[in-house]
Amino acid sequence: MPQFHGSGPGEQTPDGCSVEFYQRLPYQGELDEILPLLPARCSVLELGCGTGRLAAQLAARGHQVVGVDESAAMLSHLPAEVIGVQSSIEQLALAQRFDVVLLPSHLINHPDAQVRAAFVRCAARHLAVGGVFWLKRHDPAWLRDVKPGHLGERAGVEYIAEAVERRQADLVSMTLAYQAFGQRWTQSFTAEALEEAAIEDLLAQQGLAEVTWHGAKRLWAAGCRARV
Ligand SMILES: C[S@@+](CC[C@H](N)C(=O)[O-])C[C@H]1O[C@@H](n2cnc3c(N)ncnc32)[C@H](O)[C@@H]1O
Repeated sequence: MPQFHGSGPGEQTPDGCSVEFYQRLPYQGELDEILPLLPARCSVLELGCGTGRLAAQLAARGHQVVGVDESAAMLSHLPAEVIGVQSSIEQLALAQRFDVVLLPSHLINHPDAQVRAAFVRCAARHLAVGGVFWLKRHDPAWLRDVKPGHLGERAGVEYIAEAVERRQADLVSMTLAYQAFGQRWTQSFTAEALEEAAIEDLLAQQGLAEVTWHGAKRLWAAGCRARV
């Protein structure tokens, strides 16, 4: 199974996401657990913003949002109120500093530790002093246990694990199929299960401290760029 690959109608990004699928996918409450915890009308940098599904929710609440993605096709669907920047997260170097940097969509579970560190370095260098980095991880128990089969249905989208391979206990390669809107897309990826301590260490290495965990399953972490 390739590390990152996608299939289905339309263009796919290097990490296997399908642009048409994300363009049509409605907001499914992904940010609901953290929206009340963000400062009012703050500046937000979303890393891996795709078509702006989440960024639009932030902008609708009065935040000033910059969205970064390596895919021009994804960015072409951003709503007008979100500023798009085409870049890899690893190489992003904006002059602006933000109150909040957001890494959603389980991007932190990248299988390469150096890429994970580069994502966190990017967040740290774009945070204002006192700013907060928010990331969402996969549930590690889910990654270790998920088996091929029907995973569920949400807002008209059927989620199916078509293949699951484990070569090491914490490294999972899988192909997920998404069936919706009369179409079918797949995304194949490899993800590493990350416990809280591993993420706290990663953030501490980049000077992000006072990590707190949020959400019913403690999948959201928030780390602060210390005041000087
Ligand atoms: C799963 S999609 C989620 C998009 C959006 N956050 C949402 O929930 O609708 C992940 C996005 O991250 C982008 N991405 C993944 N790795 C990236 C990287 N290293 N640099 C820039 N963009 C990246 C992909 O191009 C894709 O658009």
